Amino acid sequence: MHHEAATLEATLRTHAPDVLSCLSELGRQLYFPREGILSQSAEAKAHAHAYNATIGIATSKGLAMHLPLLQHALSAFAPNDVYPYAPPEGKRDVRIAWRDKLYLENPSLRDKQFGLPIVTHALTHGLSIASDLFVDAGDTVVVSEQRWENYDMIFGLRRGAQLATYPLYDDEGHLHVAAFRHALYSARPKGKAIVVLNFPNNPTGYTPYRDEVDALVDTVRAAANDGMRLVVVVDDAYFGLFYDDCSRESIWARLIGLHPRIVPIKVDGATKEHFVWGFRVGFLTVGTGIHEADAVLEQKTLGAIRSSISSASHLSQTALLYALQHPEFAAQCAHNVAELRRRALRVRDVLSDRSFADVWRVYPFNSGYFMCLQLLHVPSERVRAHALHTFGVGTIALGTHDLRVAYSCLEEDTIAHVFSCIASSARALR
Ligand SMILES: Cc1ncc(COP(=O)(O)O)c(C=O)c1O
Repeated sequence: MHHEAATLEATLRTHAPDVLSCLSELGRQLYFPREGILSQSAEAKAHAHAYNATIGIATSKGLAMHLPLLQHALSAFAPNDVYPYAPPEGKRDVRIAWRDKLYLENPSLRDKQFGLPIVTHALTHGLSIASDLFVDAGDTVVVSEQRWENYDMIFGLRRGAQLATYPLYDDEGHLHVAAFRHALYSARPKGKAIVVLNFPNNPTGYTPYRDEVDALVDTVRAAANDGMRLVVVVDDAYFGLFYDDCSRESIWARLIGLHPRIVPIKVDGATKEHFVWGFRVGFLTVGTGIHEADAVLEQKTLGAIRSSISSASHLSQTALLYALQHPEFAAQCAHNVAELRRRALRVRDVLSDRSFADVWRVYPFNSGYFMCLQLLHVPSERVRAHALHTFGVGTIALGTHDLRVAYSCLEEDTIAHVFSCIASSARALR
């Protein structure tokens, strides 16, 4: 083991032995090279008042050397906020702005301490880092049956996890906390589980209500009390897109400091929340409740970043910071969310028509970009293909019977027609 990783390990052994025992073998070995090029050049940035000949960029007259044609196109931003490498942990100002946003949107964070959000190359990268840090081959990752398909690769294929799944809903259409508990406890003999919670959910568009969140938190705490070590990865990709009185704060906020054997990791970002899918800016935030452990996990996250993407896009971070600090930011986000909410309510209205009862059941939805139909008689892939080739309506078939509809991409006045095409397809194939 590298001596810098050994130092991190010693810190965890002293301050947070449970966090140490949650790490994967790769997670144990990871460190951020304090003695390497990046830290020497950071030191030079602060002290090299004569000449700084450290980092591998080019400069001219105190600015990053650049192409005037690009600067012309990007003239709102200063060259030094665009062209040089951003630090591996991300631009400090954008990290602070994101932390302030977390405090603002999650009242349960008041009086709680957590690490400064670390910039990732959007959420997929953040999830992948969490997987690297905590998942070893054979570990159990608890996820709902209705989930983003990429989890299977991020946790299963890349790191060899075994997925323990549970149905998201019970028979009454509420969050199936008992099934979650069952899946969680299937890992009890191993002593460790990684739990992925994603609300608003992809693909169903469901966010639990307050009592359901309470039950989830109680279940996680009880498992920790029963001796399990739990890494809870909260994927908040669609945070903030809430359309009824579902819980409006991240469950991550409730997990911080809950139990020494619970390691809460928040993965979120601007991608969906702020309508900048191609920017590729996300955040990974650790909240073990133990300052020293948060600091060690930050170093290990930086090691994972340095050894994979090195650092995220500086231009995108600068553009996001510009948005977060802009006086119009909140109003423009609210405008888009209101539009999505109108579409969600329109979908609900259309689907309240009882005549559809012979073709599908509707998974409850209240948030996010999507809703999901459970087709009753015909496999969803066949309905998808029929709707596509007969009516030109594109949807996503998931599993055998689920069909995901991204109403985020449907104008409100087209929604009734889209669902009538899907219903016609299902009936034609019956
Ligand atoms: C639940 C969920 N998590 C993460 C992601 C990935 O987000 P990003 O594009 O920021 O990597 C997606 C994208 O579809 C998603 O649906």
